[in-house]
Amino acid sequence: MNQPDILQPRVINTFMKRKTHMNKNAELALSDPIFAPYLVNNGTGMGNLEGINDLRALFQDTPNGGDAPLTLEIGFGLGDSLIEMATNDKDRNFIGIEVHEPGIGKAAFMAHEKNLTNIKIINGDAITLLSQLPSNHIDRIQLYFPDPWQKKRHHKRRFVSPERMALVTRVLKSGGWFHTATDWEHYAFWMVEVLDEMPNLHNQAGRGNFTDRPNFRPLTKFERRGIDRGHGVWDLIYVKD
Ligand SMILES: C[S@@+](CC[C@H](N)C(=O)[O-])C[C@H]1O[C@@H](n2cnc3c(N)ncnc32)[C@H](O)[C@@H]1O
Repeated sequence: MNQPDILQPRVINTFMKRKTHMNKNAELALSDPIFAPYLVNNGTGMGNLEGINDLRALFQDTPNGGDAPLTLEIGFGLGDSLIEMATNDKDRNFIGIEVHEPGIGKAAFMAHEKNLTNIKIINGDAITLLSQLPSNHIDRIQLYFPDPWQKKRHHKRRFVSPERMALVTRVLKSGGWFHTATDWEHYAFWMVEVLDEMPNLHNQAGRGNFTDRPNFRPLTKFERRGIDRGHGVWDLIYVKD
């Protein structure tokens, strides 16, 4: 008789894969090989992250090379702010990871349109990716307007948790940054509480404090929507020892 697989712990995802409309440009970017240089793995379905364990190597044959400063954006949504950052800082390499297919396609489309050579897009779960990267690998990790998971029974899905932040800290280089921002007050205070207790991370603004939005962070789509609804915005920047 088949035994139920009671020993397998259930994976708690920080995302919910949404089925939303994919525009023509995004669809084209996910199917036409001219966009392939921007897409590290399969852009549709759940991304296969097998073998992606060195992000710097992805830039080996680009003008910046693999040793340039490297930023990883987790959950870039539709990618407008990530593309803007990559356009404004051409000497830095950027990698965005998302599970939302229309966003993956749109970001690859915009990167090609702007002829960028300093950006790559990965389809998949950032937690899996972080788990398989080497320690001391990335200069900056950014997480802008993560899903707030407002209901108490969903708080365990919040990206900012001690366990998930341990993965982020391990992968950051010494002197590297973790930058996050939210428009949900409850999540903002939750974040500062979790992050202030992380060994090896230091709140740039001092324990318990938030920081002003740095001018290199463009307004994101979710941020604009939050502001329109009367929400505040809280930024946090932590530096690794
Ligand atoms: C609320 S949206 C914010 C999007 C964008 N940063 C913005 O501000 O407009 C959060 C995004 O994070 C993505 N996400 C959540 N958990 C993720 C994970 N573990 N790996 C990759 N993407 C994730 C979701 O798919 C979603 O698109």
